[in-house]
Amino acid sequence: MSVSIKSHQEIEKMRIAGRLTSEVLDYITPFVKPGVTTNELDKLCHDLIVNVQHAIPAPLNYAPGGHTPYPKSICTSINHQVCHGVPSDKALKNGDIVNLDITVIKDGYHGDSSRMFYVGEPSIQAKRLCEVTWQSMWRGIRVVRPGAYLGDIGHAIQSFVEPLGYSVVREFCGHGIGKVFHEEPQVLHYGRTKTGLKLETGMTFTIEPMINAGKAGIKQLGDGWTVVTKDHSLSAQYEHTILVTDTGYEVLTVSDGCLPPPNP
Ligand code: MF3
Ligand code: CO
Ligand code: CO
Repeated sequence: MSVSIKSHQEIEKMRIAGRLTSEVLDYITPFVKPGVTTNELDKLCHDLIVNVQHAIPAPLNYAPGGHTPYPKSICTSINHQVCHGVPSDKALKNGDIVNLDITVIKDGYHGDSSRMFYVGEPSIQAKRLCEVTWQSMWRGIRVVRPGAYLGDIGHAIQSFVEPLGYSVVREFCGHGIGKVFHEEPQVLHYGRTKTGLKLETGMTFTIEPMINAGKAGIKQLGDGWTVVTKDHSLSAQYEHTILVTDTGYEVLTVSDGCLPPPNP
């Protein structure tokens, strides 16, 4: 088990990749409306990343062990889809919630971030799930500092969402990131304080809780990628790429369009 510590030069490259990633999310925001297809969103993001950012969309043809190569440049997970939703010619409709997950490679380094988007006017319940999921990500981010444990992050998320009646997806987690898209460590979104890896300055990883309105169970669809809730309940996710600093954390996937962090 080896977790890489990034050098100052590497951290500077990850800041650049992180900013570009977040800027893709800013750019696509006004296009997420009833009637747009997820393939159209995919093409818009792909073209921005390749032709304007001169970067690489990491998901395209990504094929970790046992998976068929991912066929698109972004992930678009709608309503009860938990993650890795594959863009298609289906149009978004009023009331949908959709997660857009962007991973950009620039100068060899990855940035990985996702946000929820409201299509038209979703239900109060759907918006509440998205808000709680966003808050839970920040609960996780705010415990990051040298000497804290990975279990502290998972605990912060789980102990926030479960009393509200939501559940944490277990099968997918945050991950170390750098030159490699998914590297050690695994960052679970549930757990106990003071367990697991101790954090050190220079580690970079994502925090990306997947929170279900119903039960935690999931299943994978026949396309080999799309993950949905077993009970068909709504699911939401937010993701940031984080650096452990001497004094705490730095969010690397930032841009002008990011929401300000929640009040403590
Ligand atoms: N961006 C996802 C994550 O947060 C991974 C997507 S892999 C893909 O880790 F192949 F589905 F794109
Ligand atoms: Co990720
Ligand atoms: Co991601």
